[in-house]
Amino acid sequence: MTDRPRVFVTRNLPGSALDLLRQTCEVAVWPDELPPPPGELRREAAPSSGLLTLLTDRIDDALLSAAPNLVAVSNMATGYDNVDVDAATRRLVLVSRTPGVLTETTADLAFGLLLAAARRIAEGDRYVRAGHWRTWGPEIMLGPDVHGATLGIIGLGRIGAAVARRAAGFAMRILYTSRTRKPDAEKDLDATHTDLDTLLRESDFVSVHAALTDDTRGLIGARQLGLMKPGAVLVNTARGPLVDQDALYEALRSGSIAGAALDVTDPEPLRADSPLLALDNVVITPHIASASVATRSEMARLAAENLLASLAGDVNDNVVNPEIAADWRAARPGRLAG
Ligand code: DGY
Repeated sequence: MTDRPRVFVTRNLPGSALDLLRQTCEVAVWPDELPPPPGELRREAAPSSGLLTLLTDRIDDALLSAAPNLVAVSNMATGYDNVDVDAATRRLVLVSRTPGVLTETTADLAFGLLLAAARRIAEGDRYVRAGHWRTWGPEIMLGPDVHGATLGIIGLGRIGAAVARRAAGFAMRILYTSRTRKPDAEKDLDATHTDLDTLLRESDFVSVHAALTDDTRGLIGARQLGLMKPGAVLVNTARGPLVDQDALYEALRSGSIAGAALDVTDPEPLRADSPLLALDNVVITPHIASASVATRSEMARLAAENLLASLAGDVNDNVVNPEIAADWRAARPGRLAG
């Protein structure tokens, strides 16, 4: 018998995160590159006190009900739409996430995708490799200018603001929507608050940075795409289901918008027979916005720290259901930190 809590980590992690967990916990790690299938996840969760999960792991009520010892789930992501937080809250399981550490890296890729779609970088690469480059031509591979254009940011949180800072270097005009107005950001970033329809009508580039919730699923559908300028480009580095992908395909195919750049799709991975893959005016990357060596190590470290904190009943700012703290501690007095 051991009094070290058992934790299950659903994939191998970069950096020092696993060593950190091993200092105080019995650690089991899913060894494969692909996520544990639901049955395996349930089997591993059943004897565990804590789970360190990724956005590919579905943590739902069925999983939670099969894990009576579970007190904490630490999701290695800033988004946590893969976790049924209401179910976790009902079962007094603390859920945490890793905001902050991936902001700049994610914004780098969002801006890179914007440039790639506008200036046809991926398409140009395919063109060269296919042997189509026969001459310099005044009308070959033309696209819109990025500098001086209008960028609409949907969701001016940490990542949206970091994208706006990059846009400032390109002398872009910045519009934004957000659940609440951000007077400081308006001043610092010279950003103008608008409603969503106005943003869509006026922007040359639209970058999506909203969280995925029941309210935001399908936020950009056929009507919203129809409001965008014919030359506009949509960038999504947040979550695939924020955009109605069938409607996006139709807008791209018909040329009602000029292009899109997606780091996230619905579903993930994108199916090999997705009609999007036949279009030249969309750039798609495999959900890699936070994938720098340093940032993934930081995310893993923070997820490990969050898990250890939650196992000790220390409810920090990264916990998304802090309202259960008192009940959690009352139910598990032996776990109080300090
Ligand atoms: C997140 O953190 O939510 C990203 O999508 C993964 O980097």
